[in-house]
Amino acid sequence: MRLTLIQVGLGTVGGAVVEQVIAHREQWRHSLGIDLVIGAIAGQAGALVSESEAGLDDELVRVAVSARRDGGQAWSELARRQGMALRPPLEAIARCAMAGPVVVSDAASGEHTALLDAAALAHGAAVVLSNKAPLALPLADPNSAALWAEARSGGRLRYEATCGAGLPVISTLRSLLDTGDRPIQIQGALSGTFGAIFSSVAAGSHFGDAVRAAKERGYTEPDPRDDLSGLDVARKALILARTLGRGADLSDIGVESLVPEHLVNVSVEEFLARVGDADAAIGERADVAKRAGQALKYVATIAPEGTLEVGMRAIGTDTVLGALQGPENIVSIRTERYDTYPCVISGPGAGAAVTAAGILADVLALARSGLLAHG
Ligand SMILES: NC(=O)c1ccc[n+]([C@@H]2O[C@H](COP(=O)([O-])OP(=O)(O)OC[C@H]3O[C@@H](n4cnc5c(N)ncnc54)[C@H](OP(=O)(O)O)[C@@H]3O)[C@@H](O)[C@H]2O)c1
Repeated sequence: MRLTLIQVGLGTVGGAVVEQVIAHREQWRHSLGIDLVIGAIAGQAGALVSESEAGLDDELVRVAVSARRDGGQAWSELARRQGMALRPPLEAIARCAMAGPVVVSDAASGEHTALLDAAALAHGAAVVLSNKAPLALPLADPNSAALWAEARSGGRLRYEATCGAGLPVISTLRSLLDTGDRPIQIQGALSGTFGAIFSSVAAGSHFGDAVRAAKERGYTEPDPRDDLSGLDVARKALILARTLGRGADLSDIGVESLVPEHLVNVSVEEFLARVGDADAAIGERADVAKRAGQALKYVATIAPEGTLEVGMRAIGTDTVLGALQGPENIVSIRTERYDTYPCVISGPGAGAAVTAAGILADVLALARSGLLAHG
C-alpha cells in the first residue's frame, strides 16, 4: 500500500523521522509492502505540500531539515527558492488525502496542533504523536475528546513516543489490557533530566551543581524550570492514566515542583545562579534516604483508582527503580499477572533517533492494521 506522511514539526524529532523514512523506505517497500511517501512537511509558518502523488523530493526534505537545524533559512525563504507556496497544514491533509491513505506525524511542541490532529482524524487519516500536549488537554476540550476517542486499541491514533520515546511502554500496556490483565500500579522514572540530576545528587553533588551540569550536558530544556516544574512528567503520567481508562485531567495529578517558589519568575540566568538555594533541603532528603539504603528519584505513580502523583520519592536501591543510574527511563507495571515480579521496561527515554523510531513503529503498525483504506 502507498501511505502519505504529513510531518508536522521538523525539529530534533521531526527531522529524524523524515531522515529515517528516506533511509528505510526501500526496506519497508520490499519487506512490508508499504510505500511511505512524504506528502508534506510543516512548521509554525505553514506547510510545504507535494504537488504530486509521489511526494516531496527527498533532496528538498533534506534541505528543509538541515535549514531548520542550522537555524538559518526560514520556511518562507525555502518555499520561495523552490517556487512553492507555504500552505496551511489543514490544507495539506485535504490535498494528500486525494492520493490515498494519510498519516499525520505530530512532532511539534505545544497544544496548538490538537486542532490539526483532530481534523486529520475527521478526514479519515491516522495520527501518530510524540507531542504530549494535545493528549494532555482537558477531556472537556472537543479536540481532546476526538483524539482520545481514536486512541483506544483499534483506533487510528497512536502515541508510543509520548512516554519513554522509543521504549515500548504504551504498546506493552495495551497488550496487557487487551489480553484481560488488570493493572494494579504503574510506577516510573520518566524524565532523563531528573534521572541525571538525582544520580549526581546520590553521588554527592549539590542539587544546584547537578542542575547546572545537566543543562551543560544537554539533558534539560533551555529553561531547566520546564523540566523541574514536573509538568512534563505529569503529562506523561496523565497519558498513562488515560490509557488505563481513567477520565483524569492534569489538575487531578499531584505535582511536586522542584523550582523554588522565589525563582519561578526570574530570568533563566538568575535561576541558574540561584538554584543552589534548594541545596540544603534536597541534600538533607538525599542524606536521610542514603542512610536508609534508598536514593531520591522523581517518580510518577499511576493506578486505576486513587491518587495520581508525580514527585520526589526515596526508593530502595535494591529495587530496579532505585538502582537506576543516569538519564535512563524506567517503567514498572504491576498487574494481576505480573504481581510479585512486575513487568519492567527501561532504556533511553529521549533522543532524536529513538523517538523517531517510536513514531515510525506506530506508523508502520497502523499501515499494517488494515484500519486505513488501501490506496
Ligand atoms: N527530543 C526528544 O528526545 C523527545 C522525546 C520524546 C518526545 N518529544 C516530544 O516531541 C516533540 C518534538 O520534540 P523536539 O525535540 O523535536 O522539539 P523541537 O526541536 O523544538 O521541534 C519542535 C518543532 O515543532 C514545530 N512546531 C511548534 N509548534 C508548531 C505548530 N503549531 N505547528 C507546526 N509546527 C509546530 C517547530 O516548528 P518551527 O520549525 O517553525 O519552529 C519545530 O519544528 C515535543 O512535543 C517533545 O516534547 C521529544
